[in-house]
Amino acid sequence: MGEDRTQQKVLVLDFGAQYGQLIARRVRDLHVYSEIVPCDTPADEIAALDPSALILSGGPASVYADDAPSLDPGIFELGLPILGFCYGQQIMALTLGGKVAHTDIGEYGPADMRRCDEGRSKLLGTTPDEQTVWMSHRDSVSEVPEGFCITSTTETCPVASMECAERKLYATQFHPEVRHTPYGDEMLSNFLFAICGLAPDWTMDSVIEDTVAAIREQVGDARVILGLSGGVDSSVVAALCSKAIGKQLTCVFVNHGLLRKNEPEEVEEVFTKNFDVDFIHVHAEERYAKLLDGVEDPEQKRSIIGSQFWKEFFDVAEKLDGVQFLAQGTIYPDIIESGARKTGGKASTIKSHHNLIPFPEGVHFELIEPLDHFFKDEVRELGTALGLPDHMVHRQPFPGPGLAIRIIGAVTPEKLATLKDADAIVREELDAYNQRLYEETGERNSEHACWQYFAVLPDIRSVGVMGDERTYENPIILRAVESTDAMTADWAKLPADVLTRISTRIVAEVDGINRVVYDITSKPPATVEWE
Ligand code: XMP
Repeated sequence: MGEDRTQQKVLVLDFGAQYGQLIARRVRDLHVYSEIVPCDTPADEIAALDPSALILSGGPASVYADDAPSLDPGIFELGLPILGFCYGQQIMALTLGGKVAHTDIGEYGPADMRRCDEGRSKLLGTTPDEQTVWMSHRDSVSEVPEGFCITSTTETCPVASMECAERKLYATQFHPEVRHTPYGDEMLSNFLFAICGLAPDWTMDSVIEDTVAAIREQVGDARVILGLSGGVDSSVVAALCSKAIGKQLTCVFVNHGLLRKNEPEEVEEVFTKNFDVDFIHVHAEERYAKLLDGVEDPEQKRSIIGSQFWKEFFDVAEKLDGVQFLAQGTIYPDIIESGARKTGGKASTIKSHHNLIPFPEGVHFELIEPLDHFFKDEVRELGTALGLPDHMVHRQPFPGPGLAIRIIGAVTPEKLATLKDADAIVREELDAYNQRLYEETGERNSEHACWQYFAVLPDIRSVGVMGDERTYENPIILRAVESTDAMTADWAKLPADVLTRISTRIVAEVDGINRVVYDITSKPPATVEWE
């Protein structure tokens, strides 16, 4: 990372996971780099990270609960500007000698906030004297610490915000980070720019420049290998590494024959035409077909496919001379979820391996994970800025085991061909449907947009009639879900005309299919995939 930009870092002390992520996202949206650290990170560790400011997040606990998350009081002695939200305000008040009380009535949802700062608060800036803010609390500050003043109130919350401008300490009981606080972004901007004096220079271009420089510095003249799946993350890593080190990168694309129609050709074309990298297309289709022959059990299929991928990959790696690094598409939520602590700077770009699969005997790589500070939609933005085509950048999730887990029962070449054709129709129709919604709403994942959609080929047959002839053929199951993260999902409420078109086309255009059914189960209790 470049000198100036690393100094501009806002650390979010996280008192409850989902709150911290949202705040970091808002700060980044304002073009200031932000990272999340656990709330109890010691003050000296925080100082070592050299942040420009701190934000104390909200959290679900009461400050008086037995196991209430806490912070190191030493952080208030670091001389940094600090902003606290909700629990963050309460813990700031309590730590600095104020009081927090259990209010009789909680406040949940929109609240009418009134400023009482006479226009002086730099945090509230030029936002209206009376405005709606989003609250979600029962406890609240009843007495502000010495040196603080109250800057706004609501009917049930005497301290809706407080500050000690002299020490650059600010806090709100409400949540400026949620969209339901209409002036929340303005307050956050006021904190970052008017109070902390930061510059909004964390842009995708600066990110690319910094990341490319960091990869170059770390790799030197060594060689790097990357397992390319065609998914967004590995494709963006490939594009970044290609920009940084060109021919020192070898992309290994293991084609297991279980990808969707035209996908292998598309991946190869993008990476051989747009980027100056060595691209190895491993044709492993026959080996996979043999290994999967007659295998019906879903878990067995998954395990065969997964271990063979690494076998193929390491076979190639072994034949390449002087490969020191393995590049991977690990992204920030993976790191946060695994609870890994980041120490910032170069050490975070290249780490010793904590990988999912053990390396085989005698094989050792250092890992390069250039996306380990980015959220998924930032990765997509990066992809676009790096010149990857739209269909790759906005590609829906696709499981590693590919179509094998969408064919119920044993995989055969015939079933694969049938599923690929049906799936291509589903994708074509629902890509167009999503595109229409995008043009209408301006949002990629608007309400009712399909987040993931595909065809499944079950191992059953049913009777039909086509052109006066009896048929006895397979159905296709259409699966289309709305979701944000695949942890939960609901079936997409597709318009009847879209469903009709998909059904008519599949039955007419795909041999061996005489019926289309729609899966209307949410997750839970079902899962997105069928196997
Ligand atoms: P389930 O079926 O568990 O899927 O509800 C949740 C999300 O994960 C994807 N998925 C996978 N992705 N390797 C992957 O990279 C896998 O083995 C795998 N299995 C499921 C699935 O497509 C959905 O988006």
